Amino acid sequence: MNIKPIPGAIQASDADAIIVNLFQDAQPFWNGHSDGTQPGGATKAVDQSLDGAISDLISGGDFSGKADQVAVLYPRGAIPARRVILVGLGPREKFNVDVVRRAAARAIQKARDLKAGRVATVLHGAGAGELSIEEAAQATAEGSLLGLYDYRGQKTDDAPEPLPKSLELAIFDEGDVPAAQRGAEAGRAIAAGVALTRDLVNLPPNICTPAYMAQAAAEMAEEVGLRVEALERKQMEALKMGALLAVAQGSDTPPRFIILEHNGDRASELDSIVLVGKGVTFDTGGYSLKPKEGMGRMKADMAGAGAVIGAMYAIGALDVDLHVVGLAPAADNMIGSHAYRPQEVVTASNGVTIEINSTDAEGRMLLADALVYAARFQPAAVVDIATLTGACATALGRVAAGLFSTDDGLRDVLLSAADASAEKLWPLPLFPEYEKTLESQTADIRNSAGIRAGVGSSATFLKHFVSYPAWAHVDMAGLALEAKDNPYVPGKGATGFGARLLTEFARQWAQSSRE
Ligand code: BES
Ligand code: ZN
Ligand code: ZN
Repeated sequence: MNIKPIPGAIQASDADAIIVNLFQDAQPFWNGHSDGTQPGGATKAVDQSLDGAISDLISGGDFSGKADQVAVLYPRGAIPARRVILVGLGPREKFNVDVVRRAAARAIQKARDLKAGRVATVLHGAGAGELSIEEAAQATAEGSLLGLYDYRGQKTDDAPEPLPKSLELAIFDEGDVPAAQRGAEAGRAIAAGVALTRDLVNLPPNICTPAYMAQAAAEMAEEVGLRVEALERKQMEALKMGALLAVAQGSDTPPRFIILEHNGDRASELDSIVLVGKGVTFDTGGYSLKPKEGMGRMKADMAGAGAVIGAMYAIGALDVDLHVVGLAPAADNMIGSHAYRPQEVVTASNGVTIEINSTDAEGRMLLADALVYAARFQPAAVVDIATLTGACATALGRVAAGLFSTDDGLRDVLLSAADASAEKLWPLPLFPEYEKTLESQTADIRNSAGIRAGVGSSATFLKHFVSYPAWAHVDMAGLALEAKDNPYVPGKGATGFGARLLTEFARQWAQSSRE
């Protein structure tokens, strides 16, 4: 769907559907209330053109404006548009930028269901919501595009025509068009990054192999002008990535170590940040085999790598003023005569020896060598993201990802990015006591402290491979698949979690490093 700002009033549009909004418990505009709860701005103008049809819906109790509510009105020639889609914004005091994404998604889904080809919308939240034109345009575009995401996989029947084809952002004040344009482009770039993440996570594990991920990364890098490289097994051997290779050796499907770089040529003048994503393209558990129930969900065990690749697309497209490196170590975790076993001892690329006591704690093995590799960029901050532990999913449910950080400043930027993107993070502790749980008889550390040791011991394991002052770890085990009650995140399949969070993080870091 193509999105463009068009100067003019929404009630003048001759689109197949126009979208207007309403806060909850707005009073019908004819009843004389003057407490600011009347439908205002564009909605009021449309209501007047329709001779009070919107006011009737409200006073009749058919529409309260609560969040996610939609209604359709037929103007019958009173205005040029064929339909009016009215979407609820919920209570005014709870309004924020995420309300805009949700409302935009709801409304565009209704337009799609009605087979509207050309749609025009107000910028939700730009008036009474007090968002800037740019913010409102970004959130409206982002929510609309994310809400239309569709995954068809390997279905061989004909895909339905993708509708709507165009979305016009009605910009009342012509001077606001450039800001709306910038916002819409940001929304497009971010939604395209998320779609890439979702596609990679949704793809079956026989198709989305490490080599496939490297190819997808190379194609998107070409599109937005990133440097890209995918190390193969031999190169990983030369780098002594013994932890990653121990996992990868169990599969005939070869691993890749994907490196993406934005602004590599300006590394000396800009802050460098490194994003690292776990890319286990299928996690059987290895010889510490997972139960068969639900094993299929482990096709999503590369969701961290998917988030990094999607974010790097958006960061490149938005040309964020920062040196950003994306690392995606990718491998299968399988059984077979080459597979690693409990009680093996392997050496990571920083020389730390690791006793394997669970082959199912494989994600931290990949991350270990990637976190060591990150040091070569002399990063101001490193953030890794991974579907790392069932314990984190148990602790925080499908609501928030766990956040660990060695630096308060980095943690605060991530929390702020989580707030702006509505991809929630919840801080968890790196207590020194967790060190004890990793003690080994035969090596420097062991890779698993058992599920009862909790999510903290997994983060503490990773810390052994970190040699820079600001590092954060995001455990998104509960968030890769099946969102709940979010109109712009699919309830089935991949959520794309992390791509928007990391993109926003990079934008905010760039902003604060300029100040
Ligand atoms: N990929 C899993 C974690 C996971 C679990 C992701 C559920 C998504 C949903 C990870 O590799 C794993 O198996 N972790 C083990 C760690 C344990 C052996 C210390 C776990 O959580 O049980
Ligand atoms: Zn595992
Ligand atoms: Zn895993």
